[in-house]
Amino acid sequence: MPDARRVGHGRQNMMDRDYFYKIMYGEGNLDYELYLNTAKLLRCQKDFSEFCNKDELQFQVVHQVEELWMKLIAYTLLDIEEYMAARNTNRILTLFKRVHMAQRLLIEQLPLLETMSPKEYQTIRLGLGAGSGQESPGFRALLAMAPHLWETYKKHYLDAQGLTVEAVYDVAYDHGDAYVVAEQLVEFDELFQNFRFHHMQLVRRSIGIDAKSLKGRPVEILESGQRHSFFPELWAVRSKMTDAWGAHYGLKRDSLGGKGGGHH
Ligand code: HEM
Repeated sequence: MPDARRVGHGRQNMMDRDYFYKIMYGEGNLDYELYLNTAKLLRCQKDFSEFCNKDELQFQVVHQVEELWMKLIAYTLLDIEEYMAARNTNRILTLFKRVHMAQRLLIEQLPLLETMSPKEYQTIRLGLGAGSGQESPGFRALLAMAPHLWETYKKHYLDAQGLTVEAVYDVAYDHGDAYVVAEQLVEFDELFQNFRFHHMQLVRRSIGIDAKSLKGRPVEILESGQRHSFFPELWAVRSKMTDAWGAHYGLKRDSLGGKGGGHH
């Protein structure tokens, strides 16, 4: 084994990169390593000698981890759909808890990339070719699954029970199974929109929102995504109810940020 400490001019007591790179890859043949396939996993990133700068490992790792969370979310949604068809609400609640936690991790990890300077990102970007987050298999799977979840929910929790969204939230409201599952769907939708919002903030930090991206102007692509919701009926019912109850919102008042002083 090489010596961990390279003794050379100006580097006394400093860690030897090559030595530690080897340790970081591991042996690959211990039971733990075999089960988790660390030999492959830890080589899913470029080799240390190929990174274009010191931020690129982070860039790859964050994207790869995000893909893994999306894979887990998508796999869990397939199970959730089956439990919807079986009306096993308890299972659905537990599995949605898992999905929502993974969605929060997706969001929380984004600011890691804000530790990279805009200039360093430009170097990485040159190596991306025409690649874009729009091509993410995990993201595409989630987009494609959401309408199926809605259909299955509607069939088994609404139609089969003679319920409508309005009934579940208003006239027949009893906080029953149809309501609690609907709220899980809403949480999924809200967290998905939150991801899009936080991703947009990351884009503002790294390339600026008006820059021309690899696929066009990001502001247009990303803003139209942010306006999209998976389950519009579950959102619309809230305003329908407040209208029906005669609540008045949106009275015109002076903006708090505007001119005009503080006499409110
Ligand atoms: C410095 C970091 C990042 C930058 C500058 C960036 C930039 C962009 C831009 C400009 C777009 C608009 C479409 C396009 O031009 O291709 C986009 C889309 C997208 N990005 Fe990122 N991105 C970053 C990190 C990430 C990360 C970590 C993820 C994690 C999954 C991600 C996922 C996506 C997805 C899913 C889309 C499609 C969004 C939609 O259709 O609403 N991006 N990104």
